[in-house]
Amino acid sequence: MLTPADKLIAEFDRGLRTLFGTPMAARPSPAAGLPEAEMDAAARRHAAALMRVNHCGEVCAQALYQGQALASDNAALRKTLAKAADEEIDHLDWSRRRIEELGGRVSYLNPLWYAGALAIGLVAGRLGDGWNLGFLAETEDQVGQHLQGHLDRLDPEDGKTRAVIEAMKQDEAGHAQSARDLGARELPSPVKAGMRYAARIMTGTSQWL
Ligand SMILES: [Fe+2]
Ligand SMILES: [Fe+2]
Repeated sequence: MLTPADKLIAEFDRGLRTLFGTPMAARPSPAAGLPEAEMDAAARRHAAALMRVNHCGEVCAQALYQGQALASDNAALRKTLAKAADEEIDHLDWSRRRIEELGGRVSYLNPLWYAGALAIGLVAGRLGDGWNLGFLAETEDQVGQHLQGHLDRLDPEDGKTRAVIEAMKQDEAGHAQSARDLGARELPSPVKAGMRYAARIMTGTSQWL
């Protein structure tokens, strides 16, 4: 049985690895084995910038799940969060690899957004299971919509980047569903709007920085 201090140390370690290590995916990247499309420099830069945003989102996902798990006493919920967080590690690794292939870099702002997302996760976790799960489900819904937006904007020929985004989108839908299966509450509209606003600031800045 882990004590609260053990839990904190384990999460701290996970946080450091998320930010400064190279977390390894358990599943192979959906882009692996697909041919690299012929793209000009601008298209590659654009794809790398979008993947930088997605990578930053995955860093935030780790922090959110960690905060939510730390603040919850519900073992079933913590298990769901841990399973989702492991799949998000795959996303983290797939997006980082794709950024490298495209000749880009990850966001300088990752530590900042990590800290913010951890704080938000801790608050959500303290609000009780229904709201905690509701926050998770809504986050995943919004990420899914955001990823669809990227698919719409990406070069149609860029099969590798598209494959990564498609697979992530499918996983996020699964995370939202498992949160709903566990009894997620529907968040009030102003909260959803606030989350969209915060996400817009994150995506807007990490695309460039
Ligand atoms: Fe993800
Ligand atoms: Fe997710």
